[in-house]
Amino acid sequence: MKERRDLSDLVRTEIRDGIGWVTLDNPPVNATSTAVRAELLEAVGKVQRCELAVLSCAGKTFVAGGDMSEFDAPPQEPHLPDVTTALENSATPFVALMHGNVLGGGFEIAMACAFRVARPGTRFGLPEVNVGLIPGAGGTQRAPRLLGWEMAFQMACLGKTFTAEALFAAGAIDLVADNPEATIAQFKGHTPERVSERAIAPIPPSEIARFKAQAREFAKGRAAPLHNLTALTWASQPFAEAQPKERALHLELRKSEESIALRHIFFAERAVTRPATLQGIAPHDLAHIAIIGGGLMGSGIAAASLIAGYKVTLIERDRQAADAARATVTKLLQGALDRGKITRSAFDAQIDALTTTDTYEAATDADLAIEAVFEDLDAKRAVFAALTRVVGPQTLLATNTSYLDPNAIFAGIDKPERCLGIHFFSPAHIMKLVEVVKADHTGDHALATAFAFAGKLRKTPVLAGVFDGFIGNRILSAYRRAAEYMLADGALPQQIDAAMRAFGMAMGPFEAQDMAGLQIAQANRQRQDATRNPDERYVTISDKLCDMGRFGRRAGAGWYAYPDGAKTGQPDPLVDELIAAYRHENGLTPCSFSETDIQTQLLAAMANEGARIVDEGIAENAAAVDVVKTSGYGFPRWRGGPMHWAETIGMSEVRSALDALEAASPGSWQRAKAFQNGHN
Ligand code: NAI
Repeated sequence: MKERRDLSDLVRTEIRDGIGWVTLDNPPVNATSTAVRAELLEAVGKVQRCELAVLSCAGKTFVAGGDMSEFDAPPQEPHLPDVTTALENSATPFVALMHGNVLGGGFEIAMACAFRVARPGTRFGLPEVNVGLIPGAGGTQRAPRLLGWEMAFQMACLGKTFTAEALFAAGAIDLVADNPEATIAQFKGHTPERVSERAIAPIPPSEIARFKAQAREFAKGRAAPLHNLTALTWASQPFAEAQPKERALHLELRKSEESIALRHIFFAERAVTRPATLQGIAPHDLAHIAIIGGGLMGSGIAAASLIAGYKVTLIERDRQAADAARATVTKLLQGALDRGKITRSAFDAQIDALTTTDTYEAATDADLAIEAVFEDLDAKRAVFAALTRVVGPQTLLATNTSYLDPNAIFAGIDKPERCLGIHFFSPAHIMKLVEVVKADHTGDHALATAFAFAGKLRKTPVLAGVFDGFIGNRILSAYRRAAEYMLADGALPQQIDAAMRAFGMAMGPFEAQDMAGLQIAQANRQRQDATRNPDERYVTISDKLCDMGRFGRRAGAGWYAYPDGAKTGQPDPLVDELIAAYRHENGLTPCSFSETDIQTQLLAAMANEGARIVDEGIAENAAAVDVVKTSGYGFPRWRGGPMHWAETIGMSEVRSALDALEAASPGSWQRAKAFQNGHN
């Protein structure tokens, strides 16, 4: 067992040749915890007789932020502004010697130093905006003075990071060097003007309008980007007046719902992508990935795997389909090249690493095979039968099925511990979420390998058990059902979509269905016909649209009309009539729903289904549900996910919303334990 580190080890001070070398060592990212801040202050005191002091960090990065785990409690002294003030006022000038990431509090510290030097490629940023905050130790006040308004705006309000080279070009750092230690002595005897004392002209009014528009566009309902802009504008006031205002706003925002939700998701993602049950289990090394089915999903998975550096064999039904799949993957890689995500030489290497074929032989030495053929049990079973004839017993076998039962897909396969679901989301080369599905016989090694693989693809893996729709699509079904009941009872698609967008969803439930295609939901309903509880209400409006060939955007019409190939749908009087006719036929008197009614009831339906999924052990915990919805379904991160939403709004609100849903559609909802009336 590792010994507990002595706290005094967090910051080491050594004095050599008149230079004080202060080294911060708080793995993994040298976060500025209370103990670190206290020791840094002490270290500033220790070097006061030196000619120069150097502040650097051990490990793979400079300070990459504050210790967010401390943000829920009242702040403890010494505060970060105490440290930055001490560094800036130090009689011995400080050189910040940086590598890795210099983020948030780390950059605030660097800006308070007299000099800044960095290794090539070091990245700088003020990502507080991403967790609903503004910097709290002079970041918004020093950044414009040091970087100019434009760069400071992009960093603080849009969360952008910049390289050492870009900062050097902007005059914000003194030196970029491979071996910066060797250059330190040149700073002896110089005392530059403090950054906080530099004069800066106010932002020109025309720029303010542009900044505001850009920040609002980026915010998509969040408040933090605009708070950052407000704090930046204070920088044209004297630092001593403006900095306390920044600090006060930072502390106030720590308690905001937005920041609490974003911090919840930040920690949830870290926990969920490293499940406790898989700790200490070494993943298999993967080099060669076989993908069977090169349609929409298979091509996206292939592109993501190639970009992650794997050799990929893509198997299609025939030569023509294989060629088509090759063209699709090439197009996706070309897109990544055009967007600057990959270099030309990486693109060339990835094209070389791709084999497209209509035979299984090329997959003989694959380490992992992912099936993405049609959503049909027999087709999938045939794929695995063919695969197991050519691959070795070690090859992991994964299905990308959305709704079929992996246990049925893998029935009879030798060594079933290597079989699992790896469920990607469309478009697979972009969407972060991956549900790693544990079938009855899946072994932990297979799961750990799938988690490592998803991590290599820079995705967010979440462990899921077997159930129709796993975690995400099961919640989606409940959400859609609630939305369709609401249509029948008085709301219109455009009203529901607008309400959910106002809540912060990327799209409302009906426009999202139009985009994906109504036939997917229809196929699900048809599959569920056999097992659906006979008491459950079934609204047929969606089926009627399908009967009319209104399958959504690609078909030119769905819940909305898309005249002349329009991308955004327009409310269609024909759909309104269809809904009115349905109400009439079923003797329903339409009632009115406020925006809040719509939001609360639909979110309660989601949270209830999420809680049931946790009750049944399909998801490990509520955090997993939140990560699934925020990383795969357009649920706003700054709302923290449906389970966090339920906690924020409170049990009694959720229960009343469920009461309303049940009263409108008796026998159609089953409650999770936590939301049962009378349950604590
Ligand atoms: P798709 O229809 O675009 O692609 C399926 C491809 O598989 C076609 O190119 C077809 O030629 C090929 N194929 C069929 N049988 C084959 C065989 N025996 N051997 C080799 N290739 C064969 O379908 P899509 O959308 O890519 O879906 C594939 C799977 O992924 C399905 O199980 C689906 O449920 C699942 N999925 C789909 C998502 C979506 O948004 N479309 C999201 C997540 C999972």
